[in-house]
Amino acid sequence: MSNCLGCSIINGELSVCSSKKTNINQSLPATHSQRLYHEGTGDTICPSMVRGIDHIRDPRLNKGLAFTFEERQLLGIHGLIPPRFKTQEEQLELCLTSLEMYKKDLDKYIYLVGLQDRNEKLFYRLLSENIEQTMPIVYTPTVGLACQKFGLIYRRPRGLFITIHDKGHVYDVIRNWPVGDVRATVVTDGERILGLGDLGASGMGIPVGKLALYTALAGVKPSQCLPVTLDVGTNNQNLLLDPLYMGLRHKRKEGAEYDEFIDEFMQAIVQRYGQNTLIQFEDFGNHNAFRFLAKYRNQYCTFNDDIQGTASVAVSGLITSERITNKRLSDHKFLFLGAGEAAIGIANLCVKAMVVEGTDLKEARDKIWMVDIDGLLAKGRPEGKLEGDKAHYAKDHPTMKNLVEIVKKVRPSVMIGASAAGGAFTPEILSLMAEFNERPIIFALSNPTSKAECTADQAYVNTEGRCVFSSGSPFPPVEYNGKTFYPGQGNNAYIFPGVALGVICTGMHHIGEEIFLIAAQAVSEIVEDADLEKGRLYPPLAKIRECSVNIAIKIADHAYAKGIATTYPEPQDKRAFIESQMYDYQYDRSAMPEVYEWPQLPGLRG
Ligand code: NAI
Repeated sequence: MSNCLGCSIINGELSVCSSKKTNINQSLPATHSQRLYHEGTGDTICPSMVRGIDHIRDPRLNKGLAFTFEERQLLGIHGLIPPRFKTQEEQLELCLTSLEMYKKDLDKYIYLVGLQDRNEKLFYRLLSENIEQTMPIVYTPTVGLACQKFGLIYRRPRGLFITIHDKGHVYDVIRNWPVGDVRATVVTDGERILGLGDLGASGMGIPVGKLALYTALAGVKPSQCLPVTLDVGTNNQNLLLDPLYMGLRHKRKEGAEYDEFIDEFMQAIVQRYGQNTLIQFEDFGNHNAFRFLAKYRNQYCTFNDDIQGTASVAVSGLITSERITNKRLSDHKFLFLGAGEAAIGIANLCVKAMVVEGTDLKEARDKIWMVDIDGLLAKGRPEGKLEGDKAHYAKDHPTMKNLVEIVKKVRPSVMIGASAAGGAFTPEILSLMAEFNERPIIFALSNPTSKAECTADQAYVNTEGRCVFSSGSPFPPVEYNGKTFYPGQGNNAYIFPGVALGVICTGMHHIGEEIFLIAAQAVSEIVEDADLEKGRLYPPLAKIRECSVNIAIKIADHAYAKGIATTYPEPQDKRAFIESQMYDYQYDRSAMPEVYEWPQLPGLRG
C-alpha cells in the first residue's frame, strides 16, 4: 500500500485527506471488499493496520468477544476485552434478549442505533435475520417517533447535514464525508416525513433508516451508503420553538434559492462520487417531489420512493391478484381515493403495465378514475387545480364529491386508497364493491393504521370474505366464516432495496419507469400459491432478501439487454455476480492478513 501523508487513523476513524478520489471498482474480490477504503491513495486498508483500542472502537472492525486469542494478541487488544470468547451466533442471541428487555419501541430503536455504532456486522445480521421483528423499529412506524424525538435521542453523528447556508460550498461539505466510494445516497429535505408533516432536520432518521434497509434487505454495502438531510429550515412552528431542535431555526427557504441549492447538491454528488451514484429522493413535499423527479430523472441516476417505490409495490399486488381474479390489469376499472404522490405514481405505473399488455395509452388512462380532497378529477371542475399528471386522469364528467355516489357511478373493480382519510371506505362502499364484483380488489394503503381507508376486518366482513385485500399498515389476521385471512402489507421495502442493488451492480445511469414494472413482476414471482390461499398478495417479510436478489437479477438482465449497464464485462451468471457484490455480515474469518511461505532462495530468507 502506498502511503498518503494526509490520512491517518484518529480515534478509530479513518481520517482522509482532501486529495481527489481515484475511483475504486465496486467489483473488488470479496476479501478486499471487507477492507476500509482510503481516499487519498485509492487503496484499501487492511483491518490489521488498525490496532489496539482503535480496532475495537471501529464499528466496521469490531467483533465484540469473537476475536480469537491470536487476534487479540496480534492486534494489541488482549486484556482490553474480557477473556471469554463468543461466536457471532451467541452474540446475536444476546442482542435478541436485550431487544426483548426494552418494552418501548423508542428504547428498542435507541438500542439498535447503539449496536450499529458499536458493531456493524452484528447489527446487520440482527436486522437481516430478524426482519419481521426489527424492520418496524428501524423503519416505519418507530422511525417516525425517532424523528419526532430526534433532538432528545441524538447520540453520535450519522449522515450528512447540508444546510441552505452552505450554498456555494455544498461540494466542500460532501468532501467531509470520510468515505470515497459512495454508490447510493438517500436524501430528504424533511418537509413531509411519513404522515407526520414537516420535521425539518429531524427527518434524518428517514435516510438513515432507509439505507439500513438497503444493507439489511439487499446487501448493499453500508460503506457505500450516504444518508443526507438538506436543511432549508422548517415551517413547523413547534420545532422552531423547541429548545431541543437541532436544525436551522427559520422558515423554509423556497423558490429560486431552494432550487439552486438542490441543483448544486445533485452536481456535487456526481462530482465527488460519479455520474451513476444512485440518489433516492425521500419524503420531500408533494409539490417538489414530482417536480424534481421530472427534472432530474433523465439527467441523474435517481428515483423517488414515495412515488415510484409505492407504485411498484402496489402494481406488484395487482399483478399477483391476476392469479385470483383471472383478470389482467387492462380488464379492470380503477377508482383511487387520493391523487397525491402515492396515488399518481400507482396510476402512472398501472397505465404503463396496461400499455405493455397491449392497451392503448388513452384507453388505459380512461380506465382510471381519481378522487382527491376536492372531489372527482373532472375536466373544468371549479375547485382543485389539475396540474401535471393529474390532468391525464380528469374525466369529461361533472365533478362529484360524495364517494358513495362516485362508486355507484364508476362501478370500479379495484379501489385504491392513498388519501390518509381514515375510514373513508365505509361499510356501505365496501358492500357496493362486493355487489359489483365477484372478487373486488381493495387496497387501503394509507399510513399509519389510524389513517387506513378501512381495516382488514372491515374489508373482509363487508365483502363476505370475497375481497382481495392489501394495506399500507400491518393488520392482524382476520377470522371470517370459519376462514382465517392473513392480510399482506404493501410495504415499499419489498421494492426499493432490490432496485438499489440492481442499479448499483449494473452501474446504470438513469432509472426508467420500466425498472419499477420489472421490480413489481419480480416480487410477484416470489409469491407462492400458499400465500394467496392465506389472502396474502406479498411474500412473508422474511423473504424480502430473496425479493431483492430477484429484482436485481431482472434489472441486470434488462440493463444488459438494453445496453444501459456500464459494469463490464457482462457477467454471464447474473445471480452469482449480484450475490458476489452483496455485503457479508459474517465476521471476517481473521482480522489478520494471510501469511505465506517463499521458496528457500539464497539470500532471501532471514
Ligand atoms: P399526498 O399528500 O401526496 O397525497 C394525499 C392525497 O389525498 C391528495 O391528493 C389529497 O387531495 C387527497 N386527500 C386528502 N384527504 C382526502 C379526502 N378526505 N378525500 C379524498 N382525498 C383526500 O400524500 P401521499 O404521499 O400520496 O400519501 C398518501 C397516503 O399514502 C399516506 O397515508 C401515506 O402514508 C400512504 N402511503 C403508503 C405507502 C405504502 O403503503 N406502501 C407508500 C407511500 C404512501
